[in-house]
Amino acid sequence: MKILLSEAQILDRVRALGRQIEADYQGKPLTIVAVLTGSLILLADLIRQIQLPLRVALLQASSYKGATTTASDLVINDAFAPDVAGRDVLLLDDILDTGHTLSTLVRHVSERGALSVRTAVLLRKIGRQEVHLEPDYWGFEIPDAFVVGYGLDYDDDYRHLPYVAVLDGPHAS
Ligand code: IMP
Ligand code: MG
Repeated sequence: MKILLSEAQILDRVRALGRQIEADYQGKPLTIVAVLTGSLILLADLIRQIQLPLRVALLQASSYKGATTTASDLVINDAFAPDVAGRDVLLLDDILDTGHTLSTLVRHVSERGALSVRTAVLLRKIGRQEVHLEPDYWGFEIPDAFVVGYGLDYDDDYRHLPYVAVLDGPHAS
């Protein structure tokens, strides 16, 4: 495994994102809606860098990617995101890859009556996007490789690594 982003590099960047978000959401009813499970570590680190009143909510989005599936096969469970109506929502995910997940979730949260919806990701993969979506906040641009750690998994493993690493060997991407 090759380390792409060290723990220190990530924390520096997350601190900067926190300051940016803090400046942008002064006096606003901020709810950070984190997409399970990949954004958990980012969520924990990021909210501690934002000195504003804020709420935390959780969404689960599972896509069943197969030969015949499309973006609309995203199954959303928002049982832990009960009250986004009238709130300024910041959707938080680990990585922007094709963009299908986040763009579908932006629509979903808007339909639930959010006042505004912005997006934040730790990583965006170069050259992979299929859906136009410019994240409002993002940490790092990375090359098109399968990465794990800092919340990101391969087959539900490696999420606990404090850094982001490129996984080599056979894997889905
Ligand atoms: P998208 O809908 O294609 O943008 O995919 C976003 C989701 O795919 C993320 O929330 C991740 O769970 C997963 N994903 C995409 N690329 C990677 C990767 O390199 N490592 C781990 N998970 C990834
Ligand atoms: Mg994932």
